[in-house]
Amino acid sequence: MKALILSGGKGTRLRPITHTGAKQLVPVANKPILWYGIEEIVASGIRDIGIIISPETGAEVKTKTGTGDRFGANITYILQDKPAGLAHAVQVAQPFLGDSPFIMYLGDNLIQQGDLSDFLKRFSEKQHDALILLRPVTNPSAFGVAKVDEYGRVLQLVEKPQVPPSNLALVGVYFFSHVIHEAIACIQPSARGELEITDAIQCLINQQKEVVACNLEGWWLDTGKKDDLLEANRLILDTYLKVSIQGEVDDQSQVTGRVEIGPRSKVINCIIRGPVVIGSDCYLENCFIGPYSSIADQSIVIDTDLEHSVVLQGAQIARIHQRIIDSVIGQRAQLTVAPRRPKALRFLIGDDCQIELS
Ligand code: TTP
Repeated sequence: MKALILSGGKGTRLRPITHTGAKQLVPVANKPILWYGIEEIVASGIRDIGIIISPETGAEVKTKTGTGDRFGANITYILQDKPAGLAHAVQVAQPFLGDSPFIMYLGDNLIQQGDLSDFLKRFSEKQHDALILLRPVTNPSAFGVAKVDEYGRVLQLVEKPQVPPSNLALVGVYFFSHVIHEAIACIQPSARGELEITDAIQCLINQQKEVVACNLEGWWLDTGKKDDLLEANRLILDTYLKVSIQGEVDDQSQVTGRVEIGPRSKVINCIIRGPVVIGSDCYLENCFIGPYSSIADQSIVIDTDLEHSVVLQGAQIARIHQRIIDSVIGQRAQLTVAPRRPKALRFLIGDDCQIELS
């Protein structure tokens, strides 16, 4: 059994963050989203992992994630020269996958820890041709959607349907036998110009192959948009964070709840209410840091109230006299109130930024 993680794509919905970096490397609770998937796959017993990368962000994914040693895995990087669809990614990975059955895992998706092993067992024991995971959603038109019979056999799959055949969305984790390669060879690009994995699975269904669905009971998040990213951050902090204070916290500060503060970070006269994670080499002074905030390494936050937000590496936030909530602040971004006159807002804002002033 092998695994294929898709870490290419365009990431348009998470711009501007994805103008300069891979969306799969955006941290959730200070750890790249992609790494949760790798850890989950390794925990299910698979060591041989292929990662699809794009020409734009592949080098960064490779450098950060490495050979797989740190995860106890053997990682092979596979370049997809253009984001031509999920099925195209599998096609490109065929030399790596060979005839092996495999898990396909979307690198920007998160599922609750521990869920993968049971599905893998079921897929391997019953020797299905494909096993997909489903989750009821309120807005099925935004997803790939499945229609399933009472025995769990998949009857129909449609990508982002205007009239959804059910409210069951495809979770970004799939199990395939080698027959998927023949199905992909039969399909044509969709109206949006991509080779769709849903079309390939539909092709398996049409050929009477054994395609089954299981309901995912635990949580699942597709972190492709800002609010989903914040929700993933909330869930991970809520579920897994433990108290660990390695940095310095002065006597004026109050730290309550589950809070992690990394090595060499300094916290001066702050109120921090967990769950909160603060990376290494950060400096925080006169701040309130409220629940569900993640502050990455080398960030500086001064005279600021912040809550339910994700701050990326090296960001600087100072003297913002209103509470910052529900925000994602990019790497090395600077958000300050300048003391100089005339009092005014001064911006250097990158493409596709979203700023809400009250
Ligand atoms: P999507 O989120 O469906 O696509 P995208 O990354 O292009 O994002 P957006 O819609 O915001 O532009 O992709 C799901 C995952 O699969 C994600 O980790 C990127 C990856 N992917 C590839 O590796 N190759 C591809 O050709 C596509 C379309 C996606």
